[in-house]
Amino acid sequence: MENRAAADAALAAIAQRALDFVADQAIVGLGTGRAALAFVHALGARVREGLRVQGISTSEATATAARQLGIPLIGLEDTEAIDVTVDGADEVDPQLNLIKGYGGALVREKIVAAASRTEIILVGREKLVPVLGSRGVLPVEVITFALAFCKRRLVELGCRPELRLQAGSAFVSDGGNNILDCRIAPLDAPAALEAAVTAIPGVIGTGLFLGIADRVLVGDAGAVQELRRA
Ligand code: A5P
Repeated sequence: MENRAAADAALAAIAQRALDFVADQAIVGLGTGRAALAFVHALGARVREGLRVQGISTSEATATAARQLGIPLIGLEDTEAIDVTVDGADEVDPQLNLIKGYGGALVREKIVAAASRTEIILVGREKLVPVLGSRGVLPVEVITFALAFCKRRLVELGCRPELRLQAGSAFVSDGGNNILDCRIAPLDAPAALEAAVTAIPGVIGTGLFLGIADRVLVGDAGAVQELRRA
């Protein structure tokens, strides 16, 4: 319980710091998960104080929270670029490459990240890893029709895919797809794996975010550490 409170306080501190990257009138990508939600709360408070922003959400869950907090939302079709996106991650390597998607929003998160001028990632220190794959899971979103086929191809690539379940049934993403959580060893060549997996027909996207994060804010016992991509 104490640990949870400390983790929440660390997330609140980095979420607050992330507000430094949000200018008045900015278009802001809103990530998914606990860290992203901490940012949405901080942003909502700033909006109520008068900051003018428009948000683009990476999930229905975040959109619901943003609306409740008074953050106006627009769609990706309403703008050519997003000024800054603030999101979480499941793994961060020393080059600021990421694994994301434990929360199931990886495809929309990657699209919003790609449309963003700046991608800021908020994590606790426990998400920093020496090599991607250290936590042993890579989420891969797949269309339902292709599940069995994609599973076979992923096994051929050395992964051990398991269908993600939620309350006993297959998890369904906001895009209406399923997720195969691939058991993996630490990755020697993440870019090669990304290319091979995304080449499988039926795969919508993977949780590998390579060369996408510009800055990572790390929350650790009250302090905020800022990492920048070289
Ligand atoms: C959602 O699909 C994910 O990419 C999350 O951003 C990631 O799982 C981190 O979530 P937490 O901030 O909840 O750990």
